[in-house]
Amino acid sequence: MKDKTVSNSQIQMMELVQPNDANNLGNMLGGKVMHLIDIAAAMSGLRHCRKPVVTASVDSLDFRYPIKLGNMIILRASVNYTHNTSMEIGVRVESENPLTGERFHTSSAYLTFVALDENGKPTEIPKVIPESETEKRRYEAAVKRRELRMKARSELNSENVN
Ligand SMILES: CC(C)(COP(=O)(O)OP(=O)(O)OC[C@H]1O[C@@H](n2cnc3c(N)ncnc32)[C@H](O)[C@@H]1OP(=O)(O)O)[C@@H](O)C(=O)NCCC(=O)NCCS
Repeated sequence: MKDKTVSNSQIQMMELVQPNDANNLGNMLGGKVMHLIDIAAAMSGLRHCRKPVVTASVDSLDFRYPIKLGNMIILRASVNYTHNTSMEIGVRVESENPLTGERFHTSSAYLTFVALDENGKPTEIPKVIPESETEKRRYEAAVKRRELRMKARSELNSENVN
């Protein structure tokens, strides 16, 4: 299986925030933001693997600023790190005021996706090759996050057994 660069999995998605997407304060609903994050990450994972992928987990997510009705939401996603059948995908979310061009970094999310074979079982994926300094920094950070996730999962599993 051929290795792939991070740039191969880069995705950008934009939407204008509509009344249906907002709460009664005129801010985009958190659930809608999460939905778009999941879709952007899925498209990035699909580009990397060219196989069906599913969301296995989402790390904690902070909403740093509200995204206002009438503003644009911009999501950028790419594969940070790959293991055997799973990969970490990072999604950066920004809002842009279309009248002034002012932008805010509103969230960063890290999701783990797993590729599935024709029987719905986890299947091997291409390795990602980080090239730029930023990609290398994100790769190293993703390695650390994976270690923390594995530790948390094994602790939770042993609690469930006891
Ligand atoms: C994700 C899923 C395919 C994993 O299947 P599984 O049989 O438990 O897989 P395994 O234990 O063999 O692990 C396969 C890979 O998934 C990773 N993985 C499994 N559960 C995970 C979790 N909760 N968080 C992060 N990674 C996870 C493993 O680390 C492993 O990665 P690696 O091969 O790169 O080392 C399965 O749990 C599933 O189908 N979940 C539902 C997915 C879904 O429907 N998502 C939509 C939202 S509900």
